[in-house]
Amino acid sequence: MKKWFAVIGDPIAHSKSPSMHNYWFDEMNIDAAYIPIHVKSEGLESAIASFKTLGASGWNVTIPHKQAILPFLDELDSLAEKMGAVNTVVRLPDGRLKGYNTDGAGFVHSLEEVIGTDKKKQEVLLIGAGGAARGIAFALQQFGYHNITITNRTVGKAEEIVSELGEGEAVALEAAEQTLDKFGILIQSTSAGLANSEFKLPLSLEKLQEGAIAADIVYNPLMTPFLAEAQKQGAEIVNGLGMFVHQGAIAFNHWLGQYPNTNNMIKKLTDELEQLV
Ligand code: ATR
Repeated sequence: MKKWFAVIGDPIAHSKSPSMHNYWFDEMNIDAAYIPIHVKSEGLESAIASFKTLGASGWNVTIPHKQAILPFLDELDSLAEKMGAVNTVVRLPDGRLKGYNTDGAGFVHSLEEVIGTDKKKQEVLLIGAGGAARGIAFALQQFGYHNITITNRTVGKAEEIVSELGEGEAVALEAAEQTLDKFGILIQSTSAGLANSEFKLPLSLEKLQEGAIAADIVYNPLMTPFLAEAQKQGAEIVNGLGMFVHQGAIAFNHWLGQYPNTNNMIKKLTDELEQLV
């Protein structure tokens, strides 16, 4: 029987997940469909009940439901539990619902696709301490990165993540700027530089280490002000598109047990985004 999947969120119209997953279904000859469904907060519980009735095999969850969905799930993957947020739900063979969070691991897959897996000893500076940063911090730790410094406008939020990680350090933005040359990997996880945002650069990159790696989670635009500045200072850059594609690929793998072709997808979406510029 045909399987079906969905993404729920509010808003949802601009999500690129349906075209990505449907493309993979076609490419891999999988008889399935993936649809966007606009679900407001007050409709979350009944949406999940409907998914159960209608036999969805799984779905993605985006803003504002990533935390709100937790009480409706039967089981959580350990990383999702640590993060307190879910972006992927799998309906298990016995009908129970299991929540995963593939955002952080998607980021690390994307980073390592570019820089390889031999840079785990580098000092990492994670800029930002919101939901995205939290996922990335736990995933970095799980993948073997242990020298993590978190900096944020509100330092208390960086301190909270560090305390949950049980390792690393939290510093103010000014202190991170002053010691920037010690970091081999910088990760920009704030909303700075999002297309149509006024807020451009979270900190000055003047003291950036020669040859450092600079990654951004924002993918629209592909070249954020942070990446442009880092590149000017001699950094190797990693844009946010790979994170989006790999979070989807990991979800796909949880649902279907196969990892789709991420390289082709990154190329295809890069072309689409470049045409928008
Ligand atoms: P997300 O889930 O995408 O991570 P979020 O939880 O709202 O979104 O987090 C947004 C991040 O961007 C936070 O680190 C936030 O800093 P604060 O914790 O101090 O709010 C950061 N951010 C947003 N606007 C900012 C600005 N104008 N200057 C500096 N940091 C900003």
